[in-house]
Amino acid sequence: MVRAMPNGLRTVVARPAASGRRSVAAAAGLSIDLTGKKAFIAGVADDQGFGWAIAKALAEAGAEISLGVWVPALNIFETSFRRGKFDESRKLSNGGMLDFAHIYPMDAVFDTPEDVPEEVRTNKRYAGAGAFTVSEIAERVKADVGNIDIVVHSLANGPEVHSLANGPEVTKPLLETSRKGYLAAMSASSYSFVSMMQRFGPIMNPGGAAISLTYIASEDVIPGYGGGMSSAKAALESDTKVLAYEAGRKYQVRVNTISAGPLGSRAAKAIGFIDDMIRYSYANAPVQKELAAQEVGNVAAFLVSPLASAITGHCCYVDNGLNIMGLAMDSKTLAREESA
Ligand SMILES: NC(=O)c1ccc[n+]([C@@H]2O[C@H](COP(=O)([O-])OP(=O)(O)OC[C@H]3O[C@@H](n4cnc5c(N)ncnc54)[C@H](O)[C@@H]3O)[C@@H](O)[C@H]2O)c1
Repeated sequence: MVRAMPNGLRTVVARPAASGRRSVAAAAGLSIDLTGKKAFIAGVADDQGFGWAIAKALAEAGAEISLGVWVPALNIFETSFRRGKFDESRKLSNGGMLDFAHIYPMDAVFDTPEDVPEEVRTNKRYAGAGAFTVSEIAERVKADVGNIDIVVHSLANGPEVHSLANGPEVTKPLLETSRKGYLAAMSASSYSFVSMMQRFGPIMNPGGAAISLTYIASEDVIPGYGGGMSSAKAALESDTKVLAYEAGRKYQVRVNTISAGPLGSRAAKAIGFIDDMIRYSYANAPVQKELAAQEVGNVAAFLVSPLASAITGHCCYVDNGLNIMGLAMDSKTLAREESA
């Protein structure tokens, strides 16, 4: 049915389904089903971030999940998990609990054991962690669970990360960022995904999919997202396309990235201005609500599912539409005196 709109546009209005029963059957046929699929998710250390929300969505769809947890965060994550701190957010809609097949210590800035410098190897937070480089984790995953279908890269490096391995520069403007800090941001936040695709691509089943998380600061200027992080996200988005081509041809897998709106995760809080970004989004995005991590998790589940089998090399915005705005609706310069 075509209906004229007041602005001169025409819109197509869907006809109601012939019977309620038929529409229910159609909806069931489109559910996301990842039963039997195996996923590896890098970048979960609590139940607040996107990585956890993606794990939960994939589990809701039936996938088996293994995690790569940043080495210095592993102990507290496992202790909190055991003590039931995450139990409320582990609850699944079928009455079960989110669980993990395997939890691996991981540091995505190191590709092989030879890359780990002495001061990290002997650091008390790393000593005893065993294998934690990207290549070693891929080998362990292959040995423990066999081939996998889904790879998720949900890593970010806030100052807490830098303070251990790199320079604390994410809060510095680009004009004040050192070469070391810039390259550290690129290493942890973009090359780590290239490294994961190099090592996990060969153990992915054809038809599989990989996903990463990016941020609008890659293409528009977001003062405060510094230290080379904006550059790292730009590289990650460009690499998404090249990897989609290369890994698509070589391994028959898809590669996409989600550009997420602001979320008060641990990494984001470390940068320091996340509450401002959340308020800004609420005031200026087309959809006026706070972004829930689960909304990103759900889109990730769709993108790695067979429903998205023709989508690859894509940057998918999950940000309440903020990315389309060219004007800040709450700008003081737009204010008008209300006439009485
Ligand atoms: N929070 C936001 O507003 C926002 C917006 C857009 C995109 N993102 C992106 O989402 C992704 C997830 O971040 P989040 O905000 O959910 O925060 P988060 O703190 O939940 O996740 C970041 C994770 O990265 C891990 N990590 C850091 N360095 C690592 C390393 N070298 N090796 C292995 N793991 C490492 C941390 O331990 C942490 O678990 C990041 O890529 C981030 O840039 C976040």
